[in-house]
Amino acid sequence: MSTIDGEDFADLGRILVIIPTYNEKENVPRIVPRLRAAVPEAHVLVADDNSPDGTGVLADRMAEVDDHVHVLHRMGKEGLGAAYLAGFSWALEHGYDVVVEMDADGSHQPEQLPRLLDGLRDADLVLGSRYVPGGSVVNWPKSREFLSRGGNWYTRKALGLPVQDATGGYRAFRASTLRALDLNGVGSAGYIFQVDLAYRAVQRGLTVTEVPIEFVEREVGESKMNQKIVSEALWHVTVWGVRDRTRRLGRRRNARQRHTTGEGW
Ligand code: GDD
Ligand code: MN
Repeated sequence: MSTIDGEDFADLGRILVIIPTYNEKENVPRIVPRLRAAVPEAHVLVADDNSPDGTGVLADRMAEVDDHVHVLHRMGKEGLGAAYLAGFSWALEHGYDVVVEMDADGSHQPEQLPRLLDGLRDADLVLGSRYVPGGSVVNWPKSREFLSRGGNWYTRKALGLPVQDATGGYRAFRASTLRALDLNGVGSAGYIFQVDLAYRAVQRGLTVTEVPIEFVEREVGESKMNQKIVSEALWHVTVWGVRDRTRRLGRRRNARQRHTTGEGW
């Protein structure tokens, strides 16, 4: 049993860690055993988009010899968000109580998962955060850190989202949180998916907290981040920001009108 101060996580119920993969054949055989060692009670779901490098076949082999490992084979590359949405449906169908997002490439350290799980005892959604005290990024080029910090700054300003790391991908959800988020309405496929979910949780009044993580840039394989993914993110944040500001102004105007006409009091 994994422990924080001698405790295990049985009180949280059944835990599933979803690992989305696209061409991660070097990484899957490393991350899965690390995770199984760090939190032995957690189950793992590899959500593979039919990786040309055979990642899905490797994952199948691991599932054959370990009943805590599962594989979701998808038809082709549809983006990180789409893979997670399919994974979330699988998790809810199979009765898990806690669902975790984790990259395959070692950036999200399985050994830090107990921190996220412990945080979930007092929250509906826990974000692993690079930008709260104690959090850090290791081995990122300055340009990538600038992009990530800038993206988070813009997200805070445009959406009024009160978190330091809204774009990160190491998180723990309660199953009840996923059910509350209206996942059918989530259209964002790329990395903006992360902001979308955090924003939905805050808008629904759920408790969202951040725990510090050390994010370590991958050593093998390639990042799937590209210009299109960045543009999608920027565009969505701007549209949501304008939409929600307009709604708030409209509500305020209506309230003023009610006030002056004496209605609603
Ligand atoms: N199934 C599937 N389909 N998996 C994918 C896809 C896809 O289209 N695109 C990426 N992945 C998987 C990768 O194989 C990896 O396991 C994980 O998603 C993260 O992909 P990376 O390409 O390594 O992402 P990154 O390191 O550039 O971005 C990380 O940081 C971002 C914020 O700075 C991720 O954690 C993002 O979620 C995060 O938004
Ligand atoms: Mn990565």
